[in-house]
Amino acid sequence: MNRAVPDSTGAAGAAAGSYASAAAPVVREGRPMRPSAGAGGGAGAMGGGAAAPAAAGATPESKLEEIKKSLLEKKADTRLQTDDVTQTKGNDFEDYFLKRELLMGIWEKGFVKPSPIQEEAIPIALIGRNILARAKNGTGKTAAFVIPVLEKVDVSKGHIQALIMVPTRELALQTSAVVREIGKHMKVQCMVSTGGTSLRDDIMRLMKPVHILVGTPGRVMDLAQKRRIADLSKCTTFVLDEADKLLSHDFMPVMEDLVRMLPRNPQILLFSATFPVSVKSFKDRYIPKPCVMLVWCCVAFVTAH
Ligand SMILES: Nc1ncnc2c1ncn2[C@@H]1O[C@H](COP(=O)(O)OP(=O)(O)OP(=O)(O)O)[C@@H](O)[C@H]1O
Ligand SMILES: [Mg+2]
Repeated sequence: MNRAVPDSTGAAGAAAGSYASAAAPVVREGRPMRPSAGAGGGAGAMGGGAAAPAAAGATPESKLEEIKKSLLEKKADTRLQTDDVTQTKGNDFEDYFLKRELLMGIWEKGFVKPSPIQEEAIPIALIGRNILARAKNGTGKTAAFVIPVLEKVDVSKGHIQALIMVPTRELALQTSAVVREIGKHMKVQCMVSTGGTSLRDDIMRLMKPVHILVGTPGRVMDLAQKRRIADLSKCTTFVLDEADKLLSHDFMPVMEDLVRMLPRNPQILLFSATFPVSVKSFKDRYIPKPCVMLVWCCVAFVTAH
């Protein structure tokens, strides 16, 4: 989980050639999907360039810069960074026209600029497309889906809007902590639900508003299907982190059942450091007509939503 540590597995880089190459080759198939640098040239609502006041709740740019500086000063990241996370296109988080409260959470976490996988995934996820993203360990995949999920959440509505599935309880706790940290200024309600904890507590918690549910397969299935307590009928975003594990033989049927409980055409974001055949088969069945995007340190398949 530490991006400062170079990955020795070489898991994801192989498919896209040398991930250390300075010029990041981008290979795409199918329809064009990624906005140009500046986050968003082709993305309609997300124009490129510096943050506009409107993007940050009408906060003037100079004021936003001040907030950014003071928040980042509190949490300077002095860790060693490898090429996997430093060879970016130079985008800033402001380029994605995120809510001011969300930007504040990002900066307060000490994130100065998006990592390469974040540069690729955030603008695509923000325009509602499905993503299959592959990037090496420690390259910032969590924030790559947490940031767009938080941006899209409407906190004035009390229902579950995003379901983030992870394979283990430990990862669920880590991921929900990231949601809470980055969403700190947003009044977002994030619930974590895993096996090994009181089912009764989960049931009680679901009686109050939950915007983002982070969970492991068994417990989420128990709450959503068996007991019909977790209502996923308005949950429009479905995230599978460590998708290779979630789509293993054991969990695949659960993931399929969960997809069926979501509204029609949910946005599906799959993140993984490796893509075994099971991931491809899930993609073929539930994420039709994929476009493919290959980037030096990550491989992402993006589909029309
Ligand atoms: N833009 C960023 N700037 C600075 N640090 C970041 C940024 N994005 C993520 N990080 C930090 O990098 C570390 C690794 O992030 P994360 O756990 O999301 O990686 P990952 O790709 O999911 O790794 P793994 O495959 O091991 O799960 C974390 O400490 C996280 O806080
Ligand atoms: Mg991860």
